[in-house]
Amino acid sequence: MKEKRREIPYPARLNLARTPTPLEPLSRLSEELGVEVHLKRDDLTGAELTGNKVRKLEFLLAQALATGCDTILTCGAEQSNHARATAIAAAKLGLKVRLLLRTRNPAKPPPLEGNILLDRLVGAEIAWLTFEEYGQRAEMLQREAESLRRSGRIPYIIPEGGSNALGAWGYIRAVEELAKDLEDLPGNNHKSTTIIHATGSGGTTAGLVLGVKLVGLDARVIGINVCNDRNYFMHVVGEICKTAIADYQLDLPFSGQDDIHIVDGYVGQGYGKASSQVLSLLVEIARTEGIILDPVYTGKAFYGMTQELRRNPETFGDRIVFIHTGGIFGLLPMAPQLEPFL
Ligand SMILES: Cc1ncc(COP(=O)(O)O)c(C=O)c1O
Repeated sequence: MKEKRREIPYPARLNLARTPTPLEPLSRLSEELGVEVHLKRDDLTGAELTGNKVRKLEFLLAQALATGCDTILTCGAEQSNHARATAIAAAKLGLKVRLLLRTRNPAKPPPLEGNILLDRLVGAEIAWLTFEEYGQRAEMLQREAESLRRSGRIPYIIPEGGSNALGAWGYIRAVEELAKDLEDLPGNNHKSTTIIHATGSGGTTAGLVLGVKLVGLDARVIGINVCNDRNYFMHVVGEICKTAIADYQLDLPFSGQDDIHIVDGYVGQGYGKASSQVLSLLVEIARTEGIILDPVYTGKAFYGMTQELRRNPETFGDRIVFIHTGGIFGLLPMAPQLEPFL
């Protein structure tokens, strides 16, 4: 521990995620790579309500309920895990959901599979947006909210990925949980830790960065971006952290650039497009460890981690915790891409 733990001023939270999630060693991979690799199983936050988004939604939906809303409005890619988790959590709470999802051709929406099937199953209304319209998602959400208000509904907007200052509390709380997991590890548990994860909209990274400081955990946080680039996420994550520090009056040193570490270079052909290297690693990890990664987020980030380690085995220190942020339902529609590797 770097410093003494302080009392953490959590905002109101609902109980939606099955936590604490397990911390499991990846023994065969650790041996192969020559470094201790553990997996924080946030893919086990639930069966249908699974993945990192559930932790954020605990805080976001607590606030939504407090506003007296009846409809949750959010947005994402067509196979958005965040949209699916929001739709299911909202159904549990008796709220309606409207999703703005981006797709190539809204006149010909994507098939009813993976996350989209679950969205529809729990009754989410879906409005399909072009990529161009999705570029204006903040305005589109506001416009939708206006139109819902005009029809007598009371909307609450959750931004893309649940990535804002309130959602970041989900991963502040996860760091507190992880600190306990690490204390309980057998043997030398005072090693410095590197926490690696996929960065898609920035909220998980921001929560982890703030969480390590608030909890006083001797750990470095590394996000591997699966879309956009390092500069984009340095800005987005920095803004979420700064907003959280101001809104919740967190007494934290935060220097922006020095506190955020994004490893770029693994986006490949673009968001949602996995290379043959990523797909074959995904199959290898499934077969050697019994762990199912997804091609869009965890598979890409995991591949990035192994590549960085092969280049320099000491780059992440003695102990790594990779956060398995879920994504299994996004894997299911990708059978055609995966089949050649099976
Ligand atoms: C499975 C999975 N992992 C990681 C991420 C990235 O998290 P964040 O959006 O907080 O950067 C997402 C969402 O974008 C996701 O669905």
